[in-house]
Amino acid sequence: MHLLCSVRTCHQPLALRERIYVCANGHAFDVARSGYVNLLQPQDRRSHAPGDTPQAVTARRRFLERGFAAPLVDAIVAALPLRSGDTLLDAGCGEGHHLGAFRRAYAIEGHGVDISVPAIELAAKRYRDCTWVVANADRFLPYADASFHAVASITARLSPEEFRRVLAPGGALLVVLPGADDLIELRAAVLGERVERDRTQRTIEQFAPLFTLERHARIEHHAELDRDAIADVMSSSYRGLRAREREKLDTLRAMNVTLSRDLLLFR
Ligand SMILES: C[S@@+](CC[C@H](N)C(=O)[O-])C[C@H]1O[C@@H](n2cnc3c(N)ncnc32)[C@H](O)[C@@H]1O
Ligand SMILES: [Zn+2]
Repeated sequence: MHLLCSVRTCHQPLALRERIYVCANGHAFDVARSGYVNLLQPQDRRSHAPGDTPQAVTARRRFLERGFAAPLVDAIVAALPLRSGDTLLDAGCGEGHHLGAFRRAYAIEGHGVDISVPAIELAAKRYRDCTWVVANADRFLPYADASFHAVASITARLSPEEFRRVLAPGGALLVVLPGADDLIELRAAVLGERVERDRTQRTIEQFAPLFTLERHARIEHHAELDRDAIADVMSSSYRGLRAREREKLDTLRAMNVTLSRDLLLFR
């Protein structure tokens, strides 16, 4: 498995020397104390701190660790046909919960990419047996062509060309989308919207030029959320609530909430 230099005009393989990745053109990237490498180029980020904030990342970790979405995580892990030793890339991996679960279930070689430093930092500290990289998955995945048996994008970035390039021939791609009724009760109570947004058809069309859809499954789970879980799931899913919305959120004590996902398996 080769990491590639992310300097736009370079893309040469990186070699690890002590705790520094270097390419043949002399570009160098330090390995952070917690074990990840930041390959994000200044021109590949739109803000100083792109991607999920520390608050969103820690809220998502708490929500996932308390098990509210465990049946969804299990279904996602079961949806990818993997064998021990396979290479898996999780694109937009967040704080690493899903890649950690894949690794435990299949003894795969796990690689996670996210644009958020706080997300990758948390992932690298917790799941030491996977490799973690900060990069912009929309621009360039810093891996050689045909590096992976499988790629997963779990409510995250969709880059058909890059996914195709890094997948080995015959490799599997799992795209997980929030279902149309995901968090519908909370959205109605806080955001006042009941509009069901179905991203499935649009996504299938987006991937059709490069991938064949093999399976589509819709999974749904209902969880009784307490006040903390409500706050966590909202701050990990929605950025910048307005003052009025935050007030409504603060009045909620408990709620039975729908969690749903569309699972698209492509070849
Ligand atoms: C909704 S979260 C999902 C995280 C994780 N897959 C999960 O299911 O827990 C979306 C993630 O995509 C990351 N992200 C946003 N833009 C990105 C980009 N251009 N490249 C890589 N990751 C990105 C965010 O930082 C965030 O961690
Ligand atoms: Zn280079």
